[in-house]
Amino acid sequence: MTEIFYFDSKFRLRIKVLRFTSEIHKRSEAEWSGKLALRKSKGISISFWTLQSGELKLHVNDFTPLFHILPLQFPRLFEDPFMRTKLFLTLFFLLCSLLSIAQTAQQPPLYLGTAWYPEQWPQSRWDADLELMQKAGIRFVRVGEFAWSTMEPAEGKFDLDWLDRAVTMAQKRGIFVVLGTPSAAPPAWLTQKYPDTLRVEEDGRRAVHGNRQHFSFTSPRYRELAHRMAAEMAKRFGHNPNVIGWQIDNEYATYSFDDYTRAQFQQWLKAKYNTLDNLNNHWTTAYWSQTYFTWDEIPIPIGWNNPALMLDWKRFCSDVYRAYQKTQLDAIHQYADSRQWITHNFMGWFDGFDHYTVSADLDLASWDNYIGKGHLNPWTNGIVHDLTRGFKRKNFWVMETQPGNVNWQDVNNSLDKGEVREMAWHAIGHGSDAVSYWQWRSALGGQEQYHGTLAGPDGKPVPLYDEVAQIGSEFAKVGDILRGTSPVSEIAFLHSYDDRWSINFQRHHKEFDPIGYMNSFYTPLRKLTDSIDVVSPAAPLESYKLVVAPGLNLISAAEAKHLLDFVQNGGHLMLGARSGLKDEYNALNTTRQPGPLAQALGAHVEQYYVLDQPVPVTGDIGGGDAKIWAEYLKADVPDVRVLARYGKSNGWLDDQPAIVTRAVGKGQITYVGTWLSDPQMTALARWLIQSDKITQRFTDVPEGVEINRRDATGNSPREIFIVINHTKESKHIKLPSPMREQLRGNAPVSELELAARDVAIFAK
Ligand code: GAL
Repeated sequence: MTEIFYFDSKFRLRIKVLRFTSEIHKRSEAEWSGKLALRKSKGISISFWTLQSGELKLHVNDFTPLFHILPLQFPRLFEDPFMRTKLFLTLFFLLCSLLSIAQTAQQPPLYLGTAWYPEQWPQSRWDADLELMQKAGIRFVRVGEFAWSTMEPAEGKFDLDWLDRAVTMAQKRGIFVVLGTPSAAPPAWLTQKYPDTLRVEEDGRRAVHGNRQHFSFTSPRYRELAHRMAAEMAKRFGHNPNVIGWQIDNEYATYSFDDYTRAQFQQWLKAKYNTLDNLNNHWTTAYWSQTYFTWDEIPIPIGWNNPALMLDWKRFCSDVYRAYQKTQLDAIHQYADSRQWITHNFMGWFDGFDHYTVSADLDLASWDNYIGKGHLNPWTNGIVHDLTRGFKRKNFWVMETQPGNVNWQDVNNSLDKGEVREMAWHAIGHGSDAVSYWQWRSALGGQEQYHGTLAGPDGKPVPLYDEVAQIGSEFAKVGDILRGTSPVSEIAFLHSYDDRWSINFQRHHKEFDPIGYMNSFYTPLRKLTDSIDVVSPAAPLESYKLVVAPGLNLISAAEAKHLLDFVQNGGHLMLGARSGLKDEYNALNTTRQPGPLAQALGAHVEQYYVLDQPVPVTGDIGGGDAKIWAEYLKADVPDVRVLARYGKSNGWLDDQPAIVTRAVGKGQITYVGTWLSDPQMTALARWLIQSDKITQRFTDVPEGVEINRRDATGNSPREIFIVINHTKESKHIKLPSPMREQLRGNAPVSELELAARDVAIFAK
């Protein structure tokens, strides 16, 4: 019998027991290699073996080189002097390996990190930086993502020795490494020699060298060069025990409007529509004489164009980014251990591509959380954490966040003392397992000289360093209790890029911002609960009690069925204004809103009106105002209940239904046809919490205090509450039952005075 120990993708220790017969001794080396290669491809790598009572034990974690010692003829080991020497040597190497493993500290449950650019500093300085990081409790550095010119100073001439030294020095300080592939910043020799890799702006000009993201995401040559660079890195670091993961590129953002990209777009359309008749029909191209007779007539939309064409362009760009990323993923997968995860650092609500598409091939989602100007709004910022958690529907990382201030706003104010710590715990509360500061130390030159850092240009800590060190010691102190925990929600918000694009192409009221509209539903609900998921409409929904879909402007038949299944099985679906106006091609539906869901709702939108001033709304959820957009709803069947009506306004809306609800199957559908004022949204949120029996573990939560819950299931089930006072005054917190506070000594408490911007962590 053989036990296999390994770490799974969540770094949980797993043990597998395998049976071997005595045949094991007779196996040839080739057979063993085959078996081990198989195991490795399944994500397991053998680190060392032991022999006990004639049984082979394979110990498995993230260390591979000792593979080669396995094909041994065991019986001979103990008899033959030559074999004894071999055994001795093997054990010696085994010991060295163990020491090396021991040197690579255990992976922490919560990672504090920073972006470090050793290529900008003499090597003699590196250890001083790493020592300061170590003292602050920093457990990983992200390295390399803009260092192409240092890694490949001339075409095909790679120099990764310096990076290897940096990784080793970090390891000695107990600091893990996330390697960034450097494709966001191609070197000058590359763009000079291959100008076709430079992207073309909307006005036809080629980008010039000297900034970043100046490459074309469709260029095959660029992809090939980026692939080769990533492969060189993976060959060198793919088995390095101190490298835990990879970040591909940095903040994908730009498009290229060159002829090659246009031809690719036309090919993409051909593959999608098959015939031009089909395309012309779905796009209604007879309108304004847009009919296309050949594929190469179709333009890249620049500025205002056909909404169907504009939507397909965005979808094409999403597929292109996924393919661009894939070339680098392939390079890493080919050479690296599968325990090394791969991510990309997304930019929150940025909508340049569909993040569900682009994150599909990644192991982990991460994002760069910058407040920029102003201060933390925990609700509008919290929903972005939830959005990022929804890309892979699991915990995520904050790969960059601001140490105090940024440099790219018109007013680059600093966060208040305590606010950086508040933000760190806020991220953890929403399911992040890492918080990393951009950047460690001010670069002496370059475009970002004024950005916040943890060490100044003199290499000495800035005042914020101590606050970050406090976070480091807190992560170390309470990390274990949070290990393996994640937010678990009874409420999901549906979010989709197609819908946001569609509305943004034609807002109809300049203030109809789909994100603002989503926030108007999210904020009051989140204040009353301790976790909300934000997921794609295609996500499984059966685990939720309530699904809020404020912005599904396009509803396809398949999507309608998915939502109806959820309702029939007992869920409550709440739709917002503009739902189901269009089909998946961005054409108007020929059934009234909410299109394919109108029949189930038993009501429809008779007409929508843009509001130039607020309109009163009254009903079961109290009185208030509607603003920006108002839909006159009409019941088609008698069992539709009207929850709110418009008051006197433009005549058309007077006394007409504004919110309707209906029981359907075992569940319910509610339609909100307007943008409600905050107090009425709060009343609606209370109604939802009560009628859907959403669990409220904490009640009487003071204004400005946020409850976040992370749960562990399995062998040691537990609920952890991260309670944050987001205000500038102290707040009194009453607990539903006595719980142990983790930052203040683990004693059970039933109430607590929480200082301004302070955090408490309760374990139940
Ligand atoms: C991010 C970027 C970093 C740095 C930072 C400054 O968007 O990924 O490289 O420029 O902004 O705030």
